Amino acid sequence: MTQSSDPLLQPYQLKHLSLRNRLMSTSHEPAYSEDGLPKDRYRLYHLEKAKGGIALTMTAGSALVSRDSPAAFGNLHGYRDEIVPWLKRLSDDCHEAGAAVMIQITHLGRRTNWNHSDWLPVLAPSAIREPAHRAFPKAAEDWDIDRIVADYADAAERMQAAGLDGIELEAYGHLMDQFWSPATNLRDDDYGGALDNRLRFTRRVLDAIRERVGTEFIVGIRMVADEDWDKGLSREEGVEIACNLANGGQVDFLNIIRGHLETDAALSKVIPIQGMASAPHLDFAGEVRAETKFPVFHAARIADVATARHAIAEGKLDMVGMTRAHIADPHIGRKVMEGREGDIRPCVGATYCLDRIYEGHEALCVHNPATGREASMPHVLRPSNGPKKRVVVVGAGPAGLEAARVAGERGHQVTVFEAAGEPGGQIRLAARSPRRRELIGIVDWRMAQCEKKDVTFRFNMLAEVADIEAENPDIVIVATGGLPNTLFLETGAEHVVSSWDILAGDAAIGSNVLLFDDNGGHPGMQAAEMIAASGASLEIVTPERFFAAEMGGLNHVPYARTFIEAGARITINSRLAAVRREGNQLSADIGSDYSERIDCRTVDQVVVEHGTLPLDEIYFALKPGSSNLGEVDYGRLVQGGELFPQANPGGGYQLLRIGDAVSSRNIHAAIYDALRFCKDL
Ligand SMILES: Cc1cc2nc3c(=O)[nH]c(=O)nc-3n(C[C@H](O)[C@H](O)[C@H](O)COP(=O)(O)O)c2cc1C
Ligand code: SF4
Repeated sequence: MTQSSDPLLQPYQLKHLSLRNRLMSTSHEPAYSEDGLPKDRYRLYHLEKAKGGIALTMTAGSALVSRDSPAAFGNLHGYRDEIVPWLKRLSDDCHEAGAAVMIQITHLGRRTNWNHSDWLPVLAPSAIREPAHRAFPKAAEDWDIDRIVADYADAAERMQAAGLDGIELEAYGHLMDQFWSPATNLRDDDYGGALDNRLRFTRRVLDAIRERVGTEFIVGIRMVADEDWDKGLSREEGVEIACNLANGGQVDFLNIIRGHLETDAALSKVIPIQGMASAPHLDFAGEVRAETKFPVFHAARIADVATARHAIAEGKLDMVGMTRAHIADPHIGRKVMEGREGDIRPCVGATYCLDRIYEGHEALCVHNPATGREASMPHVLRPSNGPKKRVVVVGAGPAGLEAARVAGERGHQVTVFEAAGEPGGQIRLAARSPRRRELIGIVDWRMAQCEKKDVTFRFNMLAEVADIEAENPDIVIVATGGLPNTLFLETGAEHVVSSWDILAGDAAIGSNVLLFDDNGGHPGMQAAEMIAASGASLEIVTPERFFAAEMGGLNHVPYARTFIEAGARITINSRLAAVRREGNQLSADIGSDYSERIDCRTVDQVVVEHGTLPLDEIYFALKPGSSNLGEVDYGRLVQGGELFPQANPGGGYQLLRIGDAVSSRNIHAAIYDALRFCKDL
């Protein structure tokens, strides 16, 4: 085989370790751990990336070195010996598939909660509150430091015993760099003050680790080289630390971070989401590489292959992290190698993945439901061995498009009816916001994949039963979505408009608007964002304890910024009770679940978001003619087997309803519905 000239596909030599290309996934905790251990789910997740051509997968979102660093989001327990055999299996499997495996280890310091696991007090260099986890740490004592240094060495030894190719120390926002930063280190002992003192803990940790693992084992550091914070670590000091570490002979690579993690707003600069700049810190990482002349890795919203290639070609990085990009498509390397870049499922920056772990869930990709479900959901669909079926899909929103794609990949003959002139449904609506425009990638990628499988689309076609039956289908999949629900309002539903009306531009925005959000997700917030941007006076009312309850911390940031800057009023714990017309104004009654008190607002527009009601007429019309009468065996859906009971043997086709046509949910649920139902068609 001739060697590719693609900069991304060039091998990289890190000490004795040969990496097959320049693609890596930086450490990230998907919260797939079970009992703090990387069991099968964890292993299969990383193995998929190894099979997909990645050169290096950095496991763990910081395996914890000490018990008094309780997991903040499902972190692995690096302080337990039981982790070794699980990691050994993971690394053996990934090695067999051609990828190197390392692990990030850390002590979280103050960046965690004290009120779970072993209920040990959280510590930090100084007793300064950490706002993101609400910890009030104690200042680390001499015996704490000795103990934690030893814990690092023990953990490193475990990782070496597990056959991993190396470790990476986490030093941004965690204990190690909490010692570096003037914002978190106010000590006046040997560990505070001059930079040399602030580096003492790091030096002790590195000495202890090297003593235990020797000089050959790869040890890197993921480090902040500029906290971009007036009271934090400056660029000058950060780069000085990088040079110091590079020249110190104890670390083998630097993985560069710019920014700090004090708040969600700060975190969103380190890990930018959709609508924010692409690769904002790439040039900075390149400057650190130039100054240190040392191997430099980096990740921060390098979501597409062209930018990654540029990073390598221009000598900015040695290894390029495409972390969320691999969550969206673990097969990037393979597709680049095969000249199929166009087939890469794009990371659209939705950051559903990361926001979920901060809400106590596991990381899931908004439009790749196979990620994290490798044991049951395929990333690569193979053609069916069975007979070719005629599949009719009604609706070309996310659920319908995914069903069409999957059925097409399975080799079936697929026809999609769509009432609108374009595909995408609610995603097209959401992508009207410039900030969320990238979401259209979810639609465009599926359309391109469907085209390759000769899926037929009939747009502007409101399909009737006769149209569908004329296709003589073996299976009909109803994915017609829903329409905004305004009927929950007992008095005044006729006076309100929905968030969709605002998003679609069907309703002109008023000048004094009350938006009632009883959903907690993007639709209401996006409408509110448009209203705020229009200059209208805005009050957001929600029955929840905080606004946008279904939204994670990072997606919260741009909304909160907009609302604060626009001076929008946010009223929690309150429920829209009734709306009445009063002249050319509307009078809105606001009650709550907590008291009988009713407040009244006078506005010129009331916008409501209360999810959707299923558009299910066609489903119920098709039901009598189906062989399963629409029934699905949920037990078999989860465990495998024939999904559709023969409830009506005389029926002509199997009938399935998915996505919001069943009930109001989200993009991930719609696409997961489609994949899980159609993967075995
Ligand atoms: C679900 C998730 C969990 C993460 N957890 C960690 C972590 O524990 N340690 C870490 O250094 N970075 C963590 N990150 C940050 C990633 O390593 C990476 O820096 C970030 O996603 C930006 O790179 P990307 O734009 O290529 O995704 C996490 C990211 C995600 C999406
Ligand atoms: S959820 Fe969004 S940001 Fe996360 S991997 Fe998927 S597409 Fe990318």
